[in-house]
Amino acid sequence: MSVNNQTDFTFKSLDPAGLVPSPGEKETAAGLEKLRTVCQGQECYAESLGWHRTSEWSGEEWLSRYEELAARIRADADAFVVVGIGGSNQAARAVVEALEPVEGAPEIVWAGNSLSPHSINGVIEHLRGKKSVYIDVIAKNFETLEPGAAFRALRTFLRDTYGEGWQKRVVTTGTIGSHFEDISKEHGFTFIPFPSDVGGRFTALTPVGLLPLAVAGFDIRALARGAADMEAALKGDMTAENPALRYALQRNAAYKAGYRMEMLSFFEPRFFRFSKWWVQLFGESEGKDGLGLYPVAGSFSEDLHSIGQFLQDGTRCIMETFIDVKEQDSSLVLRADEVDDRFGYLDGMDYHQMNKAAFTATVDAHSRVMPCNVIEVEKLGEYAFGKLFYFFMFSCYLSGLILGVNPFDQPGVEAYKQGMFKILGK
Ligand code: PA5
Repeated sequence: MSVNNQTDFTFKSLDPAGLVPSPGEKETAAGLEKLRTVCQGQECYAESLGWHRTSEWSGEEWLSRYEELAARIRADADAFVVVGIGGSNQAARAVVEALEPVEGAPEIVWAGNSLSPHSINGVIEHLRGKKSVYIDVIAKNFETLEPGAAFRALRTFLRDTYGEGWQKRVVTTGTIGSHFEDISKEHGFTFIPFPSDVGGRFTALTPVGLLPLAVAGFDIRALARGAADMEAALKGDMTAENPALRYALQRNAAYKAGYRMEMLSFFEPRFFRFSKWWVQLFGESEGKDGLGLYPVAGSFSEDLHSIGQFLQDGTRCIMETFIDVKEQDSSLVLRADEVDDRFGYLDGMDYHQMNKAAFTATVDAHSRVMPCNVIEVEKLGEYAFGKLFYFFMFSCYLSGLILGVNPFDQPGVEAYKQGMFKILGK
């Protein structure tokens, strides 16, 4: 039975030219079998599936704990620094940079996501102008260089700025039983668990993503509800209409047909950080064993003026997934004036209308030359982000299973790390 009558989230595949064969009976049956497997969760990935049941880390008990801690921080802080890299900061940043800041909430500042001295100096300089700074150091494996180095630099800043008692300004999000927990206890930092059974890029709905969002004043309950509703919709739909199954089958069919990249495209620049989260999710989960679609982002209409030519007319290696938002949440109407600029057709037109025209025309033009999908969400808000996070994580697991890779490891990133640690004398 299909429960995918979600009206606030729709998934559509467009391939009018039949560039990628639609799944036949055999592929659909095999896909449905994999969907059942993913819904149950495989025993071999039990150590990585803590995100799979939303009730686990974004259920009532945990939400209250995030809210309580966030309220304490908000009562005293005017800046909250999220120190983390990759999966340890992308999800929270995706939401913070997409939604309007909540009045009275501390500014969220990002650190520990590069090794640029210019960046960390810029962060510290910025913090000097604040009255009360708190930090959250997020690291599953507290050996990652970027957050480790930034934590040192920020400890110096906190000690020098606030003197005795600076430790109360430090939250650490780490693995239970780790050295990180030990030093947190020893020095009086507030320690919260980084789920040991959730990899960084799957942590949007855990303390990693939700505590910073609660500090920023966002409605984490709406986000959790969106994720839970998507979980119910995907796990309750064992039909070929399941949108995660359609998406996973389509991207695998495109891969088989020779496509090598997937672009996540959007006409709302506020999705930029979300696209970085998505790029990491699919890049680290599927790009292994010499396989996988290379994920890239397209921020339109700007990027249409740089890569639009290639997309329409270049090497046929790209498929595209658009995200569109139905509700208009901002408006600017262009008025006619005395300047004959030859843009008269815009008189009285809203920017929203121009943006939608660009979207419609682009989807039409691109879908004639590459396989496309369109995901439409009702409105840009916490609830929609909850749905998007869960939809893509679930689809990624399913797609990786169809591709034949382990979606939860990332052995490839060790190669450069070993070389770097050797140079640094670790
Ligand atoms: O998804 C992943 O596992 C990675 O991107 C990690 O999140 C990233 O490398 C940061 O790791 P850690 O939290 O251990 O510092």
